[in-house]
Amino acid sequence: MRKVTFCLLSLLLVASLDAQSRRRPGNAPPPPSNAPQQNNQQPAAGQPLAGLTAAQLDLFNDGLGDFTEVETAADGLGPVFNERSCSACHTTPAIGGGSNTRLVTRFARTVAGVYDALDNLGGSLMQDHAIGPADGCSHQYAAEIVPPGATFVVHRRSTPLFGLGFIDATPDSDFVAMAASQAARGDGVVGRVNMVDNIRAGMKTVGKFGWKSQVPTLLQFSGDAYLNELGITSGDFPHESCPQGNCAELSFNPAPGINDDGSGIEALRDFMSMLAPPPRGAQNRDTDDGAQTFDRIGCTSCHVANMRTGSSAIAALDRKTYHPYSDFLLHDMGTLGDGIVMGSSTTSEMRTAPLWGLRFVTAYLHDGRASTVEQAILAHEGQGKASRDRFNALERREKQRLLVFLNSL
Ligand code: HEC
Ligand code: HEC
Repeated sequence: MRKVTFCLLSLLLVASLDAQSRRRPGNAPPPPSNAPQQNNQQPAAGQPLAGLTAAQLDLFNDGLGDFTEVETAADGLGPVFNERSCSACHTTPAIGGGSNTRLVTRFARTVAGVYDALDNLGGSLMQDHAIGPADGCSHQYAAEIVPPGATFVVHRRSTPLFGLGFIDATPDSDFVAMAASQAARGDGVVGRVNMVDNIRAGMKTVGKFGWKSQVPTLLQFSGDAYLNELGITSGDFPHESCPQGNCAELSFNPAPGINDDGSGIEALRDFMSMLAPPPRGAQNRDTDDGAQTFDRIGCTSCHVANMRTGSSAIAALDRKTYHPYSDFLLHDMGTLGDGIVMGSSTTSEMRTAPLWGLRFVTAYLHDGRASTVEQAILAHEGQGKASRDRFNALERREKQRLLVFLNSL
């Protein structure tokens, strides 16, 4: 089992390194993740942060093992699930990235203006796979479907995980301060923090991750995704998802109880914490001009270029400036909202999508509906409408340079 995982892992690594060198012709292939990196050299997508200690690199590689491990029913996969490994959805342009094609489905219902996540019917997240005899389980579970009671169905794209350790290491108070300074600006572009349940802290803290900033930490996201995407329970997420909401079906579960003793989610957290941000593409006079326009027409009101981490036990994350092009706050996006409520978010609020690594994306926005960057910009409504209109009014060459800049991120 361990051996199988190991072979698969090295194959996947080779495949991703190969994809990288093909994607950027003329560049030397990135060093293997245990090679020392020069400080002035940006790690390629999927590589660990520069400047990690040998012990930290070991943790990164252990976590990478868990992230790519293909889980079985004996490990706790299912009964219902979406994929057998984290890396099945987080693949582009390297392991730890996002996916332009793998969307997950959410369904819910609104009756007389009241939102209902349809927990009792398996909502809001649908699990579109299930275990059965082929997995050594005597009972054939059924994959979930959208129930007739749902009044709307939405899709969500798998987001890339590069550089998320920086956001995890940024103090909550910085996000609160950013929201306050946006409110003070008085131009109608006002983000707010999504205060969400932090299981380990036992209180609500600032949500940072997910399309709605619905999850506060990478550790919590690990447990959440283990349960909701793979069906693997852990101490923080002890209750299996009931297939289509029918909890009686759990009596056939071949791996009841807690599937992960906590070491798995910690390893996943370590991998994601130390995954380097996406490398910045080449910059020149056009990208510089485009960056200025991006700022001038108000895109940086939400897509914030510079942020800084607080103190971190990992030196490579300790008080470092990074460039996510997001404020990680919720903004009311009008009709671009996806209709789902999470934490304190309303149906029309979305987290500003980070734009670092945008050049690896080919299906834009939360549901991948836009096939060009320009279409994605034109879909901005609500608080994004004014800067979208300014984008529209740009002369052709300015618009072109702005797009060249975005394509360098
Ligand atoms: C079936 C596909 C799928 C699988 C499998 C999957 N994810 Fe994801 N992942 C997604 C989607 C879709 C999102 C966006 C979620 C949202 O906000 O609704 C996401 C978002 C995330 C985020 C938040 C990224 C951000 O920008 O804030 C993290 C962290 C994450 N996944 C970690 C994991 C881990 C760890 C695993 C394995 C335990 C995993 N994922 C398995 C599809 C998947
Ligand atoms: C009010 C805040 C706000 C402003 C201003 C804003 N955006 Fe956005 N942007 C968002 C949000 C929120 C999303 C995610 C929306 C979704 O998918 O539902 C987003 C998504 C995007 C995306 C798609 C990213 C992806 O990964 O799919 C691009 C590209 C983008 N914005 C560019 C721009 C540009 C260029 C401007 C200036 C003309 C701009 N934005 C102004 C909030 C904003």
